[in-house]
Amino acid sequence: MIKKAVLPVAGLGTRFLPASKATPKEMLPIIDKPLVQYAVEEAVDIGIDEIVFIISEDKYSIERHFQKNTNIEKRLIENGKTEFIEKLNPKIFSNVKFHYVNQDEQNGLGHAVLLAEPIIAGDPFALLLPDELFFARESCLNQISEIFNKTNSSTIAVTKVDEKNIHKYGVIKPGKVENNAILLEDIVEKPLKEDAPSDIAVSGRYILTPTIFNHLKKIGPGKSGEIQITDAIKTLINEENVYAKIYEGEKFDCGSKLGFVHATIALALKDPSISENIKKIIKEIV
Ligand code: G1P
Repeated sequence: MIKKAVLPVAGLGTRFLPASKATPKEMLPIIDKPLVQYAVEEAVDIGIDEIVFIISEDKYSIERHFQKNTNIEKRLIENGKTEFIEKLNPKIFSNVKFHYVNQDEQNGLGHAVLLAEPIIAGDPFALLLPDELFFARESCLNQISEIFNKTNSSTIAVTKVDEKNIHKYGVIKPGKVENNAILLEDIVEKPLKEDAPSDIAVSGRYILTPTIFNHLKKIGPGKSGEIQITDAIKTLINEENVYAKIYEGEKFDCGSKLGFVHATIALALKDPSISENIKKIIKEIV
């Protein structure tokens, strides 16, 4: 069973300036919950109880967000608003150990993951990119952890993507289907559409065996001159099976303005306290 997760949150968030100037982009809310909390809940939901944030200096509000806030709790009790305490200090977080590791240089996703190695300490682990928000009956991480639990092999979530967007993603070359998943033959980071080995793109959820760290140390800079997790998976395939599971559910790329607004509208329409009014508002606007 997977007990540890890595969440890289050190990016600059330039696409969300000026909102991301004093507030990390991962703390921007979709309705009333910061984006990063959706990923943390997805991890805790499959039994993960140790979370490693790869963070940058200006993002201390993420650390504060996952600490218990006794001051506000006290004031809620004084004002008789005890029904908000669970929202403020969710019980599920009290058994989670949060670690914060600084990434001083922007040297890619692979570099960020490598910084977690001392805490991961030889265990398999989940990697969640909080920019991607998944909404499904069975969470994306749960869908891939089922494959991991059966195979003990690294498993990544994938989705089919339009040809015109394929250059934004890691893209897999699918092999045979076994254990209800696709065996990877190859993987390429952000190929040109004419070089893409398929239309199946890597989404932001991975379960990786600790062997990945050896590969992360061996590969040099890849796309954009950065250490890419995709390149380490590419060489991992020569040593171990790696599976891909086509994710079943909705997915929002909240790293872009369009995806962020899409997620906000979609989740608002699922929120019974506002959905009817939101529908009316959308009709009026359109
Ligand atoms: C990263 C990975 C890429 C993956 C994508 C999913 O890219 O490098 O392989 O497809 O996440 O969101 P990024 O979006 O951080 O540039």
